[in-house]
Amino acid sequence: MTEAENRPNVARMYDYYLGGCHNFAADRAAAEEILKIFPDTGVAAQSNRAFLRRVVRWAAEQGVRQFLDIGAGLPTQGNVHEVVRAVRPDARVVYVDHDEVAVAYARRLLPTDGRTVVLQGDLRRPDELLADPTLRATIDLSEPVAVLLLAVLHFVPDADDPYAAVAKLRDATVPGSVLALSHLTLDGLPTLPTEQGTAIYRRSSSPLVPRTRDEVARFLDGYELVEPGLVRVADWRPDGEPQAAVSHGYGGVGVRR
Ligand SMILES: C[S@@+](CC[C@H](N)C(=O)[O-])C[C@H]1O[C@@H](n2cnc3c(N)ncnc32)[C@H](O)[C@@H]1O
Repeated sequence: MTEAENRPNVARMYDYYLGGCHNFAADRAAAEEILKIFPDTGVAAQSNRAFLRRVVRWAAEQGVRQFLDIGAGLPTQGNVHEVVRAVRPDARVVYVDHDEVAVAYARRLLPTDGRTVVLQGDLRRPDELLADPTLRATIDLSEPVAVLLLAVLHFVPDADDPYAAVAKLRDATVPGSVLALSHLTLDGLPTLPTEQGTAIYRRSSSPLVPRTRDEVARFLDGYELVEPGLVRVADWRPDGEPQAAVSHGYGGVGVRR
């Protein structure tokens, strides 16, 4: 077993919460520890995926044809390209993750049709990402792009200046572009279990950085928030799809004017 497989990995722990099978013993053990403290984590992960499907469908219906999904994770059910193509068959989707195992699985499981592309890249290095020749060959930055930052910013500590990274992505896109994000919060949760939970993630590939509502809202600076604004992910335009009322995260969508 490699060192990477021995260390709990956040992409594979999330896959386990979602009932996926692309995870190793160390991931399952850490995820089970989290589930003991927060038994509704699997439901919250499903709720985040349902939010992703709703925002992606919404953006496609607004006419957006290009999607940049950063921190895309392992392929699961209802991937971005599947949801988008149901509305816009010609849409292009670039999946980005910094985790090599997630990228390897995505390359193996996702279609290689030239309109769906998987890149290894890091949200903390937006200049490098935006300059990637494959990204530039797939996404035309003179046309609107939906940037998806779902359940990823809470893995980027303030020391790595996630606000500057998000601002660079915003400034690289044209008016009409969209930013959709979801972000873990501990607002309203008791202190002790949350400390236990973050301690488990400190042993993982990416320690967790939950943020308050105000801190999450700052990521959307420069965007006009669409209704209902920054809310619990389950409350963002629920569409009747069975999903959890449980959510430990805020979700919001903004349009660049
Ligand atoms: C919880 S998963 C979210 C997957 C998907 N976006 C969703 O919401 O269902 C978080 C993903 O972010 C990736 N990630 C964490 N930090 C990252 C970074 N700095 N750059 C790119 N990806 C990152 C992890 O490898 C993992 O696959």
